Amino acid sequence: MRPVSPYHAPGFFAEALAQDRHRDIVGGRWDETGEVQMAVLQAHGLRPEHHLLDIGAGSLRLGCKAVPYLDPGHYWATDLSGALMRRGYEVEMASTPRLDPARLIEDGEFAFPGVPAHITHAIAFAVFTHLPLRFLESALPRLHARFPLLQKLFFTIFLAPPEVYDSALRQPDGVVTHPDRTPYHHREAEVLDLVRQAGFSPVHHGDRLPRGQRLITATR
Ligand SMILES: C[S@@+](CC[C@H](N)C(=O)[O-])C[C@H]1O[C@@H](n2cnc3c(N)ncnc32)[C@H](O)[C@@H]1O
Repeated sequence: MRPVSPYHAPGFFAEALAQDRHRDIVGGRWDETGEVQMAVLQAHGLRPEHHLLDIGAGSLRLGCKAVPYLDPGHYWATDLSGALMRRGYEVEMASTPRLDPARLIEDGEFAFPGVPAHITHAIAFAVFTHLPLRFLESALPRLHARFPLLQKLFFTIFLAPPEVYDSALRQPDGVVTHPDRTPYHHREAEVLDLVRQAGFSPVHHGDRLPRGQRLITATR
């Protein structure tokens, strides 16, 4: 059976990390994509005193930019692979005593074990793009319940107009997305409904993001 995403394939992380590919695993474009995420967060009001949760943080492409910006101790990260986050920390951030590696939490279920309730902002960049919609559907209400002070959640997805949803679709940046395998595309109306059902107000932003991803914000 095909794994849910390339990340879920047995041995994927061990093999790629053995080849020192921690940047490639998250899609490369290291500085550009970290900066794009910081620009989005700051444009939407992130300040150093806020508490940021980076969901599906990978090798800390955003963490490298966010940790120096935020007050010490205000960055938390989760990912399916703890080893990937730790490799990013060791190689890219070793000289950064501002981040306690205990704040990098392995979590493939969007359960956020050990993440404190005072998170104010959360971002899942290029995470739900690789997953079937049921993952977003279960993550949204959990985020709402676990983090009562969460002001804004940012996530990216690929969209397909309803009339072409069923087939493969070339996104503006060249990536080909699919209804039933990774990278996935979804229907805008369905995604926005899930956000509303979880208790947030959704906005689909028109910004051009790397690989043609779309930005959705969910505001409490
Ligand atoms: C394209 S990378 C993006 C990483 C990071 N957000 C960034 O922009 O650099 C996708 C990440 O999602 C993580 N991921 C995939 N499925 C996940 C799940 N079920 N729970 C948590 N993380 C997951 C992968 O391990 C990978 O690090």
